[in-house]
Order: sequence, then structure tokens, then C-alpha cells
Amino acid sequence: MEKTVLIMGGAGYIGSHTVKHLQEQGYSCVVADNLVYGHRQAVPEGVPFEKADLADVASLEPIFSKYDFSAVLHFAAYAYVGESVTDPQKYYQNNVAGTLNLLSVMKKHHVNKIVFSSTCATYGEPKYTPMDEKHPQNPINPYGRSKLMIEQVFADYARAYGLKYAALRYFNAAGAAQDASIGESHNPETHLIPLVLQAIKGERSCIKIFGTDYPTPDGTCLRDYIHVEDLACAHRLALEKLNDFSGYVNLGTGIKTSVKDIIAAAEKVTGKTCPVQPAPRRAGDPAELYAAAHGPAETVLGWKPRYLQIEDIIATAWKWEQNRRY
Ligand code: UFG
Repeated sequence: MEKTVLIMGGAGYIGSHTVKHLQEQGYSCVVADNLVYGHRQAVPEGVPFEKADLADVASLEPIFSKYDFSAVLHFAAYAYVGESVTDPQKYYQNNVAGTLNLLSVMKKHHVNKIVFSSTCATYGEPKYTPMDEKHPQNPINPYGRSKLMIEQVFADYARAYGLKYAALRYFNAAGAAQDASIGESHNPETHLIPLVLQAIKGERSCIKIFGTDYPTPDGTCLRDYIHVEDLACAHRLALEKLNDFSGYVNLGTGIKTSVKDIIAAAEKVTGKTCPVQPAPRRAGDPAELYAAAHGPAETVLGWKPRYLQIEDIIATAWKWEQNRRY
């Protein structure tokens, strides 16, 4: 049995699904979260919860003294691309300086393993697709830059201090737990699938399609939607590989799905019509972003996505959307 793992940001969307998965796999977990965006109800019963903020080393110290951690899974970040442009300080303070605080406390307590939420936003505008880990990294917003900076910090800490790390570059996280006990709940919500489902429910007047003139088959953006439970599983596999592996791994399915495909799939799953409104392109949205399949996620981590049909992903999101607890 592994020792205890700390899930920093474990009350957030991807963090909470990973906690659930780790708990089901017999791991002993502790969740720390500042609850700015996280939800206390998203943390499964029986998992110790500690309120802590990356900005405040004094709030992290006692947690590392109280438990004997073998590793940290670090999800605690701000992740609104648009906000990162208007308020970059918030992103560099929390995502960069906050992670440096976490690393310093880890170092002091001799915890040298970390699995980190990185993002395909570290690549910036695609030079080619599908995107592999060798794609140049030129992020086009402070959010992407904040994540890239931490990837670079990891490489230096690995050389100097023996840090073992996996930086997982997610494409578009989507869906909810199969049992609908937890799911996606952002405030404000900016992500396509929950917005489409809320429009279908009548909670929003319509979904705006940001750009219908992209050079794609149906004129709308192509993305790679990956189920949050598949992401959770990849975190556990990365954690289990950290003795032999440090590095960067894309997490996507390699399947491209357009905005119009998402709307059609949501209509099929729900049996209802989604009111849509064509709208101008959103700044910073590339036409297509999708991962190269069969990369290190498969060859190094031994991971394969289980959800390959977008309808199956949306069905879990829909079940959650109808029974939301938070
Ligand atoms: N979209 C719409 N209407 C909406 C919302 C989104 O048409 O109301 C479109 C977007 O233009 C985009 C697609 O739906 O083409 C997906 O948009 P999301 O906002 O759901 O996701 P993003 O691809 O913008 O963002 C995701 C992650 C970010 C990450 C980014 C990397 O959520 O954290 O990928 O590019 F930074």
C-alpha cells in the first residue's frame, strides 16, 4: 500500500475526480484546497480535508507535518484564459509563485514526487496537428505561460534536487463521474459542454457558436474532448511511474470534434433541441487543437482513454447536469 498522497486543489473539477479514482483504487488521500473555486461537497466522504492556500506557506506547513506524504498531485490553479489576459498578476501569483511555495514545502519535508496539471495551452497556436509533446511551446496567454514556467521549474528542480515529476498536458476535459456524484461546476461557466446542456435545459437563452468561418469541415473549431475519469486514471498511472519517469505527457484522445458536433451530440443524448446563435470568433481560439494518439501517455504510462464516443462523454455530463449537488 502506498503512503498517503496530497491532492492540492482536490475540491476542483479534475482534482475531485482524481481523488475519487484514487480512493477507489485503495490510495490514502488528503485533499487541500482554498475553496475559492473548489467545492467542499466534491470531496468524497472519508477523505481528510485541509483548507490551505498556495499563497500562504504557513497554511501548507502544518499539513506536511501532520501527514507523511509520498507524493503530491497538484491541481490548484486559476484556469480562465480570458481572465489571465486582463489580470495576469492573479495567474502568475497563484499558478507560478504559489507552486514555488508548494515545492519549497515539499523540499523541506523530503517529498520529491509531483504530478502536475499542465495544459495544451502551453503550445500556443498550433504549428501542426495532431500535436505531440515535441510541438514548440509558445503560449499566447498568461494562463498558458504560467503553466509553461512551472514545467521549466520542474526540469531545473529535477536536475538540482532530484524532483520526480509528470506534467500532464490536458486537452479539453469534459464529462462527469459515471455515478453522477461529482461533476463540472465552474462559476462563471465558460466551457462549451456545460453551456450547451444548460441552454438545452432552458437555463440559458442559447449557446453562442464562437466562429462559423474557420477552415474546418463545418466552419467551427475542432477540439479533443477527454473524459475527466480518463484524466483521473492517467494521474494515477503517472504517480505510479514516477520512480522511473519524469517528463511531459499529452492527455487527449486524438479525436477531433467540432462545436457543431458537440451541439448535435448533446441534442441526441438529451432528445431536446439546443437554441444556437452564430457569434464572432473568440480571441485566442485556434481552429483546431488535438493530441497525437498513441504517444507517451500510452507507451510510457500504459494509459488508454475509455471514452471514445463524444455521446458517451456528454451522457455523463447530462446525468450530472440534471442532478447537480453544487
Ligand atoms: N465555444 C463556443 N461557445 C461557447 C463556449 C465555447 O463556441 O459559449 C467554443 C470555443 O470557441 C472552442 C470550443 O467551444 O472552440 C471549446 O471551448 P471551451 O471554452 O470549452 O474550451 P477551450 O478549448 O477554450 O479551453 C480548454 C481549457 C482551457 C485551456 C484551453 C487550451 O478549458 O483551460 O483548452 O486551449 F487553456
